[in-house]
Amino acid sequence: MKEIKVRRSIRTFIEDKKVSRESMETLIRAAMQAPSAMNRKPWCFMVIDEEEVMKKLMQHPSFTGKIKEAKAFILVLADLEKATCRLFHQDLAAATQNILLEATHMGIGSYWIGVYETDNRLEAVKEIFNLPTNIEPFSLVALGYPKSEDDFYFRDNFDASLIKYNGWE
Ligand SMILES: Cc1cc2nc3c(=O)[nH]c(=O)nc-3n(C[C@H](O)[C@H](O)[C@H](O)COP(=O)(O)O)c2cc1C
Repeated sequence: MKEIKVRRSIRTFIEDKKVSRESMETLIRAAMQAPSAMNRKPWCFMVIDEEEVMKKLMQHPSFTGKIKEAKAFILVLADLEKATCRLFHQDLAAATQNILLEATHMGIGSYWIGVYETDNRLEAVKEIFNLPTNIEPFSLVALGYPKSEDDFYFRDNFDASLIKYNGWE
């Protein structure tokens, strides 16, 4: 699939091009299509696209560097009341990856910012958004339109030496 090949972590974006709410919903629809252990779907999502709110994240000491260039974010969250299967973090990773692939398909640049299990960011996000105790942040996806179509490019990561067939030897 083309999107898997050309997806890149894109961290610089066109300054004055926002990501519409409609596009954000399409991205979250993709997230919700992810596989989920025991079909618990333990996720919920927060769209962060208002300048004042984004500033709270961007100016927090736990988030530095390129994050200031993002035009919007999707915060991928676990609802611990639904996360009754021990594999639930894997569901959230699959949902996050679906967002990145759908974004690539739509020509939107994106990158995954790890929140779970980083002590400082996990606490920072809980505090900034005043999350209830049953809602735990997992990842933050930064979004925007890339400065060039060439920012989506194929870098071949294939390494045949990492594959074993039917056993370790
Ligand atoms: C769990 C996870 C956490 C990540 N956290 C960050 C991050 O905090 N900041 C960042 O700039 N990139 C982050 N990335 C993106 C990686 O740096 C990136 O995927 C890697 O360098 C490979 O580049 P590519 O995505 O273009 O293939 C993260 C990726 C994953 C999967």
